[in-house]
Amino acid sequence: MKNIILIGFMGAGKTTVGKLLARDRGMKFIDTDERIEAEQKKSIPDLFSEYGESYFRDLETELLKRMQDDTGGAVISVGGGMPVRKENRTLLRSLGCVVYLSATKETILKRVKGDGSRPMLNGEDLEARVEKLMRDREALYRQAAHLDIRTDGRSVYQVLQIIDQEMRRFG
Ligand code: S3P
Repeated sequence: MKNIILIGFMGAGKTTVGKLLARDRGMKFIDTDERIEAEQKKSIPDLFSEYGESYFRDLETELLKRMQDDTGGAVISVGGGMPVRKENRTLLRSLGCVVYLSATKETILKRVKGDGSRPMLNGEDLEARVEKLMRDREALYRQAAHLDIRTDGRSVYQVLQIIDQEMRRFG
C-alpha cells in the first residue's frame, strides 16, 4: 500500500490530522520528528542547540532515504522544514502521495504562539519569523505536493473529509 505524507508549516496540523487519518484508514502513523528524537535520544531543541540546524537537516534526509525501502502503508507526518531541500522533495514524492496542509499566517500564529518546542521560531518577533519562513517555503511546499489542502477555518474532521475526497480524485 502507498504511503500518505503530510507536509506543511509548523502548526499546520500535520501530526493531529496524521494520527486521525492513520486511525481511520487502519494505517501506521510515523512522525519524522519523533523518530529522530527517539533514534538520537535527544529532543529537537537539544539537537538544534548542541549540534546546529544543518546537523538536524542531515538527520532528516538520512531518515527519508532509509524510509524509501522499509516504509509502506503508513501516514507520515514530516517536520515543517523537510521539503526545503530539493533532494528531500524528490524523496518525499517517491514515498507516496504528498499532501500539503496549508494555512494562512494568522492561523499559524494562533497555533504556534507560546510554544517553546520549535527552535526555528525562537527569539524576538514571532510574526516576522513566521512571515519570512512561510514566504521562503511556500513555493517549495507546492513543488513537493501532489495535493494542496487548506486548513483555515476547518475542523480536523473537515480536513480529513477533504483529504479523502481529494485522494479519491488523485487515484
Ligand atoms: C521545523 C519544524 C518542526 C521540527 C523542527 C524544525 C521547521 O516540525 O522539525 O523544529 O524547520 O519548520 P513541525 O513542523 O512538526 O513543528
